[in-house]
Amino acid sequence: MDPLVDPFGRSIRYLRVSVTDRCDFRCVYCMSEDMTFLPKNEILTLEELDRLCSAFVRHGVEKLRITGGEPLVRRNIMSFFEAMGRHLRSGALRELTLTTNGSQLERFAADLARVGVRRVNVSLDTLDEDRFRKLTRWGRLPQVLRGIEAAHAAGLRVKINAVALKGDTEEEMFDLVQWCAKEGHDLTFIEVMPMGDIGNEMRLDQFWSLRDLRARLAERYTLTDVTERTGGPARYVRLEETGQKIGFITPLSHNFCESCNRVRLTCTGQLHTCLGQEGASDLRASLRASTMDDAVLDDAIRAAIRLKPKGHDFDYSRGEAGVVGGRISRHMSHTGG
Ligand code: 5AD
Ligand code: SF4
Repeated sequence: MDPLVDPFGRSIRYLRVSVTDRCDFRCVYCMSEDMTFLPKNEILTLEELDRLCSAFVRHGVEKLRITGGEPLVRRNIMSFFEAMGRHLRSGALRELTLTTNGSQLERFAADLARVGVRRVNVSLDTLDEDRFRKLTRWGRLPQVLRGIEAAHAAGLRVKINAVALKGDTEEEMFDLVQWCAKEGHDLTFIEVMPMGDIGNEMRLDQFWSLRDLRARLAERYTLTDVTERTGGPARYVRLEETGQKIGFITPLSHNFCESCNRVRLTCTGQLHTCLGQEGASDLRASLRASTMDDAVLDDAIRAAIRLKPKGHDFDYSRGEAGVVGGRISRHMSHTGG
């Protein structure tokens, strides 16, 4: 089947799939404490997820990232990973990976490695137990650290994603950098994005620009820009003293849309072709309209890709703290980051 190419000539090779909106944490920048989750019939079944992801793979998607919410809290999720493993074995899929908070990794790391997962992104903002409890509300740090060890022991490459938070990250970034160097984990810092109603207005004081973070890092390390891009939104620097590569994702202050090869599927089957835009295509309707035959679904996927916008449009001055408005109403836990 011909690969998917959008109206701006970008080939779509990368699908991110949220398999649940639920999570066992309540991170302050992601969720409110009393989140209401979607009713079960809205959520795609694991069989539907398999059918949909397989359709994308048939259309040339080579990389699949499973996200949430927290993907590993979905019941029976390993059966879905196993099902996707068959696309790795056939050679259609080059990479199957996931983004997780690490809470269930101790239990699942070996199984993930067995079905062909090679890398995991673990969201971890702090190495301090009290701060971890403050930021995640429900999470416990030792459990996550055990999960990360289990992943490492299973041969999975670990990338730590840390959200840059005013105050918290400021105090701890050097500890995080050193810990990642010691453990051999990659590290990427992410700027806080204006997603979802988190039940308070604290995001404005949470925002810490990566420009500042980078300047602080440069006080202690010699930074060299890494010029190759990996196709994603991250930019990298190398710390000459340790040889580490550190990633920066600055959705608010940089435009990386020209090279965007990705689309996102929510756990309800809505396809978002741009993280920064509200529009989506309802693939669940097409999926449920014809359970026997994939022609309707294939057409719907092609039509959705034709709608991929040129770029995103967070409606405020780029990269400046103290921004207001322009919030994207859906939660990160629906679109999966
Ligand atoms: N801004 C930036 N990153 C966020 N994440 C969740 N909510 C936000 C937000 N508002 C991150 C998590 C994790 C990834 C899945 O998304 O910390 O790294
Ligand atoms: Fe859960 Fe990740 Fe959101 Fe934290 S950021 S509440 S771990 S989905």
